[in-house]
Amino acid sequence: MLTIEFLGQACTSLRCHRTGIEIVSDPWFSGPAHLNSWHAFPEWTTEEMEQLRDRIDGATHIYLSHEHADHFDPQFLRTLNRKTILVGDFQNERFRKELQNLASIHEIRYCRHGEILQLGDFVSAQLFMQQPAFRTDSILLVQTADGCVLNANDCGLNTSVLRRIARNHQVTLFLFTLNYMANGYPISYLFSGDPDFDSRMQAVRDQTLDTFRLAIQTLNPALSVAFAGPVTFGDPINEHLNRHPEACNWSDMVAELQREGPVVWPAPFSAIECMEGKVARSNILDWEGFRARPIHYSEPLAEPLPSLEQILQAAEHFVDRLSGVLHKTGQRVDTPLILSGVASIDQIESNAADWSLEIDFDRQHVRFLQQPSLLPPYLQILAPAQILYELLTFQANVDDLLLSARGRFRRNPDTFNPILHDLLRYGGDNLSSQALINWSVRRAKCGESITIEVDGEPRCIPKLCPHEGESLETAGIVNGHLVCPRHRWKFDLNTGQCVAGDRTVNLFSLVEQQG
Ligand code: FES
Repeated sequence: MLTIEFLGQACTSLRCHRTGIEIVSDPWFSGPAHLNSWHAFPEWTTEEMEQLRDRIDGATHIYLSHEHADHFDPQFLRTLNRKTILVGDFQNERFRKELQNLASIHEIRYCRHGEILQLGDFVSAQLFMQQPAFRTDSILLVQTADGCVLNANDCGLNTSVLRRIARNHQVTLFLFTLNYMANGYPISYLFSGDPDFDSRMQAVRDQTLDTFRLAIQTLNPALSVAFAGPVTFGDPINEHLNRHPEACNWSDMVAELQREGPVVWPAPFSAIECMEGKVARSNILDWEGFRARPIHYSEPLAEPLPSLEQILQAAEHFVDRLSGVLHKTGQRVDTPLILSGVASIDQIESNAADWSLEIDFDRQHVRFLQQPSLLPPYLQILAPAQILYELLTFQANVDDLLLSARGRFRRNPDTFNPILHDLLRYGGDNLSSQALINWSVRRAKCGESITIEVDGEPRCIPKLCPHEGESLETAGIVNGHLVCPRHRWKFDLNTGQCVAGDRTVNLFSLVEQQG
């Protein structure tokens, strides 16, 4: 028998009774994540946490899907007795250093993309990394004699990887998140009273559901499970996020997905048993009992405010480092970054910054602005000065800030700039930035392209989506538009122009540039 138990957030236990192998995934129990903003829902009492710790300490393996603090909790892992930690061989120096610090307690097993690990008789595990490789998240496939489980947590799902899995395995349980309220985008781009709030959130919700739906159609699992969340946001300024009707209630989304096949949303301590590739028994608990638990709000930031001199010094090092990385990728960002600091987080929606810095990575230049002029193009991040200082000194990256909702982002034009975002995400880490450089150079040089048919004529397009590298080989064509299966960017097949997504991108010109 194979038992899957849900232990809150992305933490699951997968136990093979025949062999005694138990893999616990992504335990997060040591308090708020993402710049202290995210609180697990429900929050455990100290007593409950002790019980969970003892329960998890019986496992043989821990799987860490990625570095984000709601999945990787070194403080908690330090409390466990020796385990084998399975983790992707990510090019991420910050993550590797933290893992190295655990190596005196646990065995760290770095796994290559798609490598098959034989954990015991008839128990194998395989990790698939989000592509391109420097984007650090992964999914776990476990095959046992009693069933096959695909734990996709909150990883971006690459359809070609899913198709490969479907060709080789009959997935019994498929696990994926519906946590669109904690998606980073667009929450940090929206003010609490923004008239577009509902429609923009709805778009992300639909995209999350589409991804889930497509995965169900591809894998055809016996049962799909929505898990990995929910969370609440710890700053009173983000209370509107906690009050959103779907913040801690995914029932409607689950009901919509049930048209594709059986889907459940198990509360903590639910369990599912599989035998001979089928779901034999399930005990799915509901969330009712947890809803009465209060939401905890974080303490205000306590660190002293950095001086303007410290900020400027850090900014100069920041721009030198990132401009150097950008130069090696052979690209330009064409968009200045405006960092606007405030003394207190309550001010992030006021648009009244205490100071602003303009950072131009193309010209390797930084300057203080009395008043940000905000002439397009720009990306502005308005956040408490302490947090911006962490960003400038590479203690935090733009992902932390986006996910935390402890800042507000504005951009003009309102399009995603993948080069700037990749630079801010990966440029500060020695391994990730090298992987980013290698990937950009390789893509520019060989720029693999594929041929599709448009009105009976062959047309060359890049093999990988210019957004986040999804394979476009089987992208659907709807009303003359090519639609990327991952985040639904749309490209007009008459002109190549992106019409939903980054509208400055043209698929046909990308191929011409590569040629
Ligand atoms: S990878 Fe995001 S839209 Fe294609």
